[in-house]
Amino acid sequence: MWYENRVTQDLSIKYPIIQAGMAGGVTTPELVAAVSNAGGLGTLGAGYMSPEQTRVSIKKIKQLTNKPFGVNLFIPETPDISEEEIDKANEWLQPFREELNISERPKVKKPTASLFKEQIEIIIEEQVPVCSFTFGIPPKETVQQLKERNSIVIGTATTVKEAIANEENGLDMVVVQGSEAGGHRGTFIGSFEEAMIGTMALIPQTVDHVDIPVIAAGGIMDGRGILAAMMLGAQAVQMGTAFVTSVESGAKKPHKEAILNSNEDQTVVTSTFSGKPARGIRNEFITKMTRHEKYLPKYPIQNTLTTSIRNEAAKQNRPEWMSLWCGQNPRLSKPVSAGEIISDLLYQIDDIINTSRKGWS
Ligand SMILES: Cc1cc2nc3c(=O)[nH]c(=O)nc-3n(C[C@H](O)[C@H](O)[C@H](O)COP(=O)(O)O)c2cc1C
Repeated sequence: MWYENRVTQDLSIKYPIIQAGMAGGVTTPELVAAVSNAGGLGTLGAGYMSPEQTRVSIKKIKQLTNKPFGVNLFIPETPDISEEEIDKANEWLQPFREELNISERPKVKKPTASLFKEQIEIIIEEQVPVCSFTFGIPPKETVQQLKERNSIVIGTATTVKEAIANEENGLDMVVVQGSEAGGHRGTFIGSFEEAMIGTMALIPQTVDHVDIPVIAAGGIMDGRGILAAMMLGAQAVQMGTAFVTSVESGAKKPHKEAILNSNEDQTVVTSTFSGKPARGIRNEFITKMTRHEKYLPKYPIQNTLTTSIRNEAAKQNRPEWMSLWCGQNPRLSKPVSAGEIISDLLYQIDDIINTSRKGWS
């Protein structure tokens, strides 16, 4: 069968379809459990969660499914704070705050790695079956600790070089994130511009250079995309945007609507929201802030500075000032349940396989 391979075997799942961990409230326990219950791997995006929120969400997922699931974390970045940079950014952000009636400016603390350490402890205590990472590679001891507790450890790469680095650090599998992908770029070696490799070029070149299974991500939204990725050597796919518009997703309504109404030429990669390049739907915030992009504080500082703007804009139904993360394939998005997304994918795949058996016509 097309779905029987090392990834499905090692993850103990039926279908090699992974729902991306998406931080920021998209991946509710209901979404994660629905995907796992349908035979894929649901993943909690815990990147921005406090340790307590992470634990509560994991416990909720366990109540909703007895199938394997994953938790996704961000490798911490701890840039120095420059008060001058922050003052400049605050000045540029002030007009948005005024329009939204936000009176307070966020306090920025020096980012540390302590949250990450606490999250890892929780994942170990809760015996989470799969732990995935982006924005870098976890320390070897962390990989070892997780593996000793029988967790499968998955990394993210945007180039062959990064995939090799994941393998060398003991990661069990690697997600290759093509340039089509929605959300933040996982690039951690070299410049992000040089690492904008399309999914179709990235999969076969990576497969030729690593022995660990390769999971394809970026622009995969239907059965055609899944089979194409697997033909190129991927042993699974990771899909983000397709699940953002699902019924169980916690994405804000204006975000879901923006994806459902977007076309392939409307997304752009921007650092204006968080200080780190991410693909989302072009809107007024991006257009106005792009000229300052080079001078903004680094991730996660800029992310902290824009948090209240993004949240308040969502409350006031102002999508023009929200971060509308989305991949390059939004025309294929649907507002249906996660279970229906998976069953549609399986139906499409069977249909393609049956057609090919009869001979392409
Ligand atoms: C709304 C959104 C949030 C995301 N958040 C994360 C995240 O927290 N961690 C992560 O590893 N990837 C994240 N991603 C990227 C996905 O892992 C994946 O690379 C991407 O969704 C694949 O492209 P697609 O959106 O076209 O399916 C996010 C993607 C989206 C659309």
